[in-house]
Amino acid sequence: MNILVCGGAGYIGSHMVRWLRARDVDVTALDNLSTGHRAAVGDCRLIEADLLDPTALDRAFASDRFDTVMHFCACSLVGESVLKPLDYYQNNVVGTLNLLQAMGRHGVARLVFSSTAAVFGNPVTERIDESHPKAPINPYGASKLMVERILQDAAAASGLRSVTLRYFNAAGASPDGAIGEAHDPETHLIPNVIAAVRAGGNAPLRIFGDDWPTPDGTCVRDYVHVDDLAQAHWQALTYMDRHPGAHAFNLGNGCGFSVKEVVQAVERVSGQVVPFEVAPRRAGDPAVLVAASDRARAELGWRPAYTQLDDIIATAWCWHCDPGFGPREA
Ligand code: UFG
Repeated sequence: MNILVCGGAGYIGSHMVRWLRARDVDVTALDNLSTGHRAAVGDCRLIEADLLDPTALDRAFASDRFDTVMHFCACSLVGESVLKPLDYYQNNVVGTLNLLQAMGRHGVARLVFSSTAAVFGNPVTERIDESHPKAPINPYGASKLMVERILQDAAAASGLRSVTLRYFNAAGASPDGAIGEAHDPETHLIPNVIAAVRAGGNAPLRIFGDDWPTPDGTCVRDYVHVDDLAQAHWQALTYMDRHPGAHAFNLGNGCGFSVKEVVQAVERVSGQVVPFEVAPRRAGDPAVLVAASDRARAELGWRPAYTQLDDIIATAWCWHCDPGFGPREA
């Protein structure tokens, strides 16, 4: 196997690169380093290129014989997508079209694509399975849904094989503390809760709304460890061998935790109090998102190793408390 990991310097992509290299797979990371970190890929080969640059993509594909692409590149912040929808469609849809066309020109016909729970919009069932209506309520989710449709059409027209993996809330860090979540600015809940603990009251967590229609009024999400997402990508490779066409799987633990429950979990893991204040709701947030991942378990053989929220948070806590926390830029 020889895999091109697009977005390999980002949060989930860099964990994928480590997962593949631990299994002696040939891996090249491609990243524009707009949000990713060179140091996160370690000594893996890194091509610095942007999906919006078809010439750079041609150079990347001409540089090796890849048989599969894993595609993690995206603008992925729900709130930002509401403010900058055109940027999201440009980067996520046009960028992916460029990638697919370059794959076609270079004879690469297998793709694992990162999608999101945001393609579903507001849930109409307690847990969201693959048959749930897809009605995104923000441009981020809409941009990913457009790509899912493109992959179906490309499968029918050109035989492109693809597995789309719809993550619920990716969380945690590598258990050896080597890499973790390091966005700038950070918008995700768990790193922000940890940052609030570490700021010791100087920068309380802002909880975006406590008047949602949920048991404690704060939003409910399904947190899934980043290495468990990598495991599913690995299993998607063998799935594609046996299944032509375009396929999609939801990835979550199937348990919802409110923002306040995440705060309590960080307090348990850290042994410290989380200072917080309640702020207005964030645009584009659905109240509840919880996965039904039975299909991934049955068909991919996916078995998440981190089924307890505290265990997921403990890996993030270790990464953030490491004195050298954050990617060490070479
Ligand atoms: N939240 C806060 N305070 C913060 C950060 C987040 O209250 O400082 C809340 C959010 O409003 C939300 C929940 O915590 O209710 C989780 O927010 P995140 O930003 O951590 O994650 P999102 O649910 O917005 O986003 C995640 C993925 C997206 C995916 C989305 C589906 O990062 O890729 O789930 O809605 F699209």
